[in-house]
Amino acid sequence: MGDKITVPDVRARKGGPKLTMVTAYDYPSARMASDAGVDMILVGDSVANVVHGMGDTLGVDIDIMVLHARAVRRADPRPLVIVDMPWLSFHISKEDTLRNAGRLVREGGAEAVKLEGGHRRVPMIDALVGAEIPVMGHLGLTPQSVHAMGGYRVQGREIEAARMLIQEAKELEAAGVFSIVLEGVPDLVARMVTEQVSVPTIGIGAGPHTDGQVLVYTDLLGLNFGHYPKFVRKYESFADRGVAAMAAFVEDVRSGGFPGDEESYHLPEDVAAELEGRPSDG
Ligand code: KIV
Repeated sequence: MGDKITVPDVRARKGGPKLTMVTAYDYPSARMASDAGVDMILVGDSVANVVHGMGDTLGVDIDIMVLHARAVRRADPRPLVIVDMPWLSFHISKEDTLRNAGRLVREGGAEAVKLEGGHRRVPMIDALVGAEIPVMGHLGLTPQSVHAMGGYRVQGREIEAARMLIQEAKELEAAGVFSIVLEGVPDLVARMVTEQVSVPTIGIGAGPHTDGQVLVYTDLLGLNFGHYPKFVRKYESFADRGVAAMAAFVEDVRSGGFPGDEESYHLPEDVAAELEGRPSDG
């Protein structure tokens, strides 16, 4: 399917062809993403919600992100592998941020990290880029700020907030990020950011005018139980199909239909006969 995708490859795609990114958290999801030809895998902290069943992303730490990153890397994926820095892993000090990102790279096999936030995070981004760790920014609806935002709300709707978002994108660009995720922002704001920064923007709930799109893979495959946000397009119904398949298994076991002869191991006839103490058929 081609060569491994690198950070410079992603940077070079500013303006097209459009970039694609999906989340993955383990070996099979990474294999699907890689075989499907996506450009980037995000080991997102959304793993908290969609794998661990938590109510927000605040409950996952560096150990959990390392565990999932390692599972993804074992699939030897062609897409660039970016790993989310979880909440509080890049807020305390530059040293702490470097140590945590270093673990994602060294233990988890991350090829880049992503972190949420604007100008308050610039010193941390600066430190990471200085240590040769590529950084993807993330602006707009940043789920780690759920309490500060008062819920999961579209950001940048008012004039000052929209201007601030565009300004912060420029600050992240100046700090050296190689790409910026724009989540939950009006399409015009995403378009203006995309036009005004030189690095690719990757949208989720940000309209069509970004340099690429990202979806949580369980949303895309219909593998979630519960609410799907407005911006999701469900390309499959894996949860419904999975329930139906497991119900069929239950039915087959109860009716004696599983396992069948072809799903069972058999002794050679002479061994079977001796074991049962009967004359052999053959
Ligand atoms: O954790 C995640 O899945 C993300 C995407 C929504 C961009 O940050």
